[in-house]
Amino acid sequence: MSIQILGTGAYVPEKILTNDDLSKMVETSDEWIMQRVGIHERRISMHESAAEMAEKAARRALDAAGIQPEELDLMIAATVSSDSICPSLSARVQAALGAHCPAFDVNSACSGFLFALDTAAAFIARGGIRYALVIGAERLSRVLDWTDRSTCVIFGDGSGAFVIAPGEQYLASRLFTQGNDTALSISAGKGNSPFYEKELTPYKVVMNGQETFKFAVRRLEEDIKLLCEQAGITPQDLDWIVPHQANVRIIDLCARRLKLPLEKFYMNIERYGNTSSASVPISFDELARSGKLRKGDLIAMSAFGGGLSGAGCIIRWG
Ligand code: ACO
Repeated sequence: MSIQILGTGAYVPEKILTNDDLSKMVETSDEWIMQRVGIHERRISMHESAAEMAEKAARRALDAAGIQPEELDLMIAATVSSDSICPSLSARVQAALGAHCPAFDVNSACSGFLFALDTAAAFIARGGIRYALVIGAERLSRVLDWTDRSTCVIFGDGSGAFVIAPGEQYLASRLFTQGNDTALSISAGKGNSPFYEKELTPYKVVMNGQETFKFAVRRLEEDIKLLCEQAGITPQDLDWIVPHQANVRIIDLCARRLKLPLEKFYMNIERYGNTSSASVPISFDELARSGKLRKGDLIAMSAFGGGLSGAGCIIRWG
């Protein structure tokens, strides 16, 4: 049994932080960030927790699907910036929505939402689930080093969600992990133990940009090819690709390697930056609400990130 997407939703906080604003905090410029990454501004939460942002995206997805929270049988949230280790982000959202279903989190950095979607699809294939809510939500501004210009200009806050049900839309999926903590990490820090003797990186995003860049380009290209093979189509058959919004140059290189027009890649990185696990569902929600999708459209979603990890799927819309 496969799945169908019944409704999508997204939410970004109101506060806009522009490149010019950032250039007053660290030595950077709008020109550098636009040229090297393609971001003009990002949203930053001033007073909403990751769970509160997740709840807003979830309510929009539930409204779009015409489903009540009490009807949900499963909830999975992806995040690397949960408000607490316990309760999980999904448990907080479950309480806020007044849902009664089991809820748990997955962590696979920027690939997290697609790991969560595939996990929910597997639960649905097992049977006994009518409606599942899958969320990607991040308050990354909490874990950034705001003195490090090579990372703080890249990320933003936001959330996205899908309501899914048994159906026939999910044509292919793929998950990938290549354990590595030198390219990208968010250490949980040393903690409180008076006994532990090893030094650990403080609690913040640390990234080797070029190593991550190379991994990202390879992952995006290879995953789209392998997903198409699995679905029995060619990359040229795809109507849309919704990639993780990490860097316009990554997407551009991938488009050229796959010989696909850049217009097929949905992009909003200029407005939101990299929102990690929220990036794909926010982008997909915008595309779905834009009126550009046609019944039968073939859409690939593909993400990569810390772990290192990669994940993707192909759906047939409508
Ligand atoms: N403003 C101005 N200059 C900067 C900035 C900045 N914000 N950041 C770095 N620089 C400087 C560097 O100091 C360096 O200067 P130098 O040549 O004098 O030493 C120069 O710019 C070039 O730095 P690079 O790191 O080589 O720049 P690069 O072209 O690689 O771009 C970037 C950096 C944007 C981070 C890129 O490598 C990238 O996008 N990497 C992939 C990130 C990614 O995909 N992450 C996804 C996973 S995220 C997750 O999972 C949570």
